[in-house]
Formats: sequence, C-alpha cells, structure tokens
Amino acid sequence: MTGTDESLALLGRAVTQDEAQDDAWVVSTLRRHEPAAMHTQHPVVWERASGSRVFNREGRSWLDWTSGILTANAGHARPEVVEAITEQARQGLLHAYMFPTRVRARTVRALAELSGFPQSVLYTTGAEAVEGALKISSRYAAGRRRERAGGGGGDGGRNVIVTFEGAFHGRTLGAQLSGGLPAQRDWAPELDDVFVRVPYPARGEAWTAEVIETAVRSAGSRPEDVICVMGEIYQGSTLRQIDPVAARELREWCSRHDALLVVDEIQSGFGRTGALFAHEHVGIRPDLLLVAKGLSGSLPISAVLVGDERFTRHVRPGELTSTHSGNPVSLAAAEANLALYADGRLVEEAARRGRQLADGLADWVAGLPGRRRIIGTMGLIAGVACTAEDGSLDPQTSQRLAAECIERGLLVCVPSTLGGAMLKIMPPVTTSEAELAEALALFGAASDAVQLR
Ligand SMILES: Cc1ncc(COP(=O)(O)O)c(C=O)c1O
Repeated sequence: MTGTDESLALLGRAVTQDEAQDDAWVVSTLRRHEPAAMHTQHPVVWERASGSRVFNREGRSWLDWTSGILTANAGHARPEVVEAITEQARQGLLHAYMFPTRVRARTVRALAELSGFPQSVLYTTGAEAVEGALKISSRYAAGRRRERAGGGGGDGGRNVIVTFEGAFHGRTLGAQLSGGLPAQRDWAPELDDVFVRVPYPARGEAWTAEVIETAVRSAGSRPEDVICVMGEIYQGSTLRQIDPVAARELREWCSRHDALLVVDEIQSGFGRTGALFAHEHVGIRPDLLLVAKGLSGSLPISAVLVGDERFTRHVRPGELTSTHSGNPVSLAAAEANLALYADGRLVEEAARRGRQLADGLADWVAGLPGRRRIIGTMGLIAGVACTAEDGSLDPQTSQRLAAECIERGLLVCVPSTLGGAMLKIMPPVTTSEAELAEALALFGAASDAVQLR
C-alpha cells in the first residue's frame, strides 16, 4: 500500500468522539492530510488563547512568545474584538464582496485617522498587500511617464523594483521575487533585471543610496526606471534594523527619482516596536505602508495605506479588488482592534515592556559566559541565536532550547530563517510586567536546562 492509499483507506469510517478530542489524533491527521512542509511548529494543539496565554484542551497553558506569528499584538481574543466579530455575524452579514458596507466605511476612516494615510486598499493577507503595492507603484510610474510625455505613449521606461538582501515579504510569486532570501525563491523564475536586490542599510554598516544606482545599472536599467523601493524597518528574517541616517537617505533618493517608498510593516506595525509604526523610530514617511497581522489582531485582513491620493490615480477601475478584501467580519475585528490604539496608551505601555524585555535579555546574556547572542531587540521583538564553539549558527541547540521552553510553559517558535538557529521572541504587546517577568524566568530556566554556554 502506498502512503496515499493508506491515507484514503482511513476516510471511510467516522471519526469517533474520543479520537476527535485527542491531541494525538489532531497531529496525526494533519500529518496524513497535509504536506510535511506545513508542519513547522511544535505539536502543541491550540484549543483557545486569551491575552498572553495559549491553552490546550486539558487546560494546560503556555505564556505566548509567538503572538500567533505577530498577529495578536493587543492580546489573544480581546473581548472587544470577539464582541465585534460576534455582533457582525449576528447582524447577518458575513460577506459583501466590494459592495459598500457601513463597517468598511467606518474602518477605512479609522485607519486614515490613526495612521495619517488618507487611503486604504484592503486585502486579506500580507503577501497580497505586497502584490498590491507593486501594482500601484507600476501604474503610478506609467501614469507619470505618460504625463511627462504630454499624454503620449510614455518615455519607454522599464519597471524596476528595488528590494533588500535578507528581506521577507511573503510567499506569493511577486512577494517571493521581492524577497532577499535566495533559497526561498529558487522555485520561481529568475527576473533579476526586474527585481533588483541591494544590501540592506543596517545600523552600523556603511551604506549609501549609490548602491541602488550601481545595482540598477548593472541590471541594465537606469535609476529613473525604478518604480519603487520596498523594505522593512527591521528585517524579520535577521532582526537587523535600518540605520536612521540611511533610512532618510533612502527616503530622499526615492523622492528625487519619483520612485515610491514602500515600507512593509506587516509584522512591525501596531505597537510591536514600541511605536504605533516602526518607521516613526527613524523619522521617515513611506509613500505606501503595508499592514496586516496586528491590523485586526485576529482575522485575516491586510491593507496598503496610501500616503497621497496621487499614487492611486492611475490604477484602473477594478484593479485593486479581490473576493474577500472587504470582508465585513474581518473588518469588524479590525475596527474594534484599531479602537484599542486610539488613545496611544497601549503603545506607551508596549515601549515600557520593550525596555523590560531588552533588560531581561541583557541580564540573561551577562549571566552566560559565552556565545549566545541576542539579536536586535526593538520593542517587543527580539531573537536569540544559538551558536556553536566555532561561532557558527547552531540550529540543533536552538531547537532543544525551544523544546525546553515549551516543556516549561513558554510557547516559542524558531523560524526557518537564519538556518533555523534563531528563537524569535514576540510576546503580545499587551503582556503585563508580571507575565513578562515570569516568561523571562521560564526562558532562563530552560536555557539552564539546555546548558547553554
Ligand atoms: C515583513 C513581512 N511581510 C510580508 C509577510 C507576509 O504576510 P502573509 O503571511 O500574511 O502573507 C510577512 C509574514 O510573516 C512579513 O513578516
């Protein structure tokens, strides 16, 4: 019998009550009916999550350092958000395509008020927002070229998208081609003359915008062919942070060349870094700001926030819609979640918690005579990379450390980037002082158990 035959043979009989309640059944069924590539996390079966904790069916709980991969910024299952979702469902409107709805009007208005970006283009996932930003940039560039040519056929410019080495923008084709992690895009066609990647202007590294011109020219294009530069304020893959001076130089370069500056805050937005948006730390204003995850803190919804109405003027009618982009239930969740940020207190508290996390990790490292490295704390995001004797990355130890944390009641995850050697720390930004102190103590105990040196 092949594996496929076995999987299908089991389908004929009903799942028993006992099986359905059993975590082992959940894990084995997922393994049987999903590709192995989808099973990246420890087999903790989530039953419910609330605030900073995740619970399994037996009532065991974990302090959460994943935020469901940076989504539950304002805490899991916030009562305000749950109430809004329930109310919207009760109202009897679960879907409306692009027909106008009250909840959509209220939410795009709230987004404009909170962000200062006058327009929103709504989508479902982060990668979709990335694709949308590329399209908006392309249409804007084409429109500007037509205007410059006096309404004629344009200036024959090409469309070059500049992104950064080490970047992660999602897993759809355009997002993956924009990404700066070569192993992640080796399945995709090579379009290196269109997607031009340049070194990331990380803090402490010499960087000037000349690298953009050099790279664009060596790809056979001109700086004026660049339709947008897209980047992150800290790179999710390595937690390197953008240098503030370089960020401003980049802003200036984009303005000078009429290329849109697209800042991907899909993971760094909504208080994660101790500011509402991470770009506030470096004093630049993006042209297009990409948000998702913490936008609703729960249901799938993302947006391209548009800094100036001129940027969308050349997009053709219908080009920015999708089936689920205005989903009323996701919008109700987003609206309730946005209200939590309105008075700024949640973000202020996040900044305080960020300092507590940085101090706690600094103490932890000081207590270890060796090579454990904290990577780039910025508010409530940090990483710990385990290294071997010779300084090389040590994914096995990181996995052992993660397993030990989970055993002790601290839920962590180790993403595939950095060779799987970085344990990424990303608690809900509403984690309390006591909860963070407890989590740091659990982490310290786990690292003692693994005998990190
Ligand atoms: C910076 C960044 N951009 C884009 C994405 C893609 O978002 P999604 O997984 O919702 O498509 C992610 C997801 O982790 C991300 O961290």
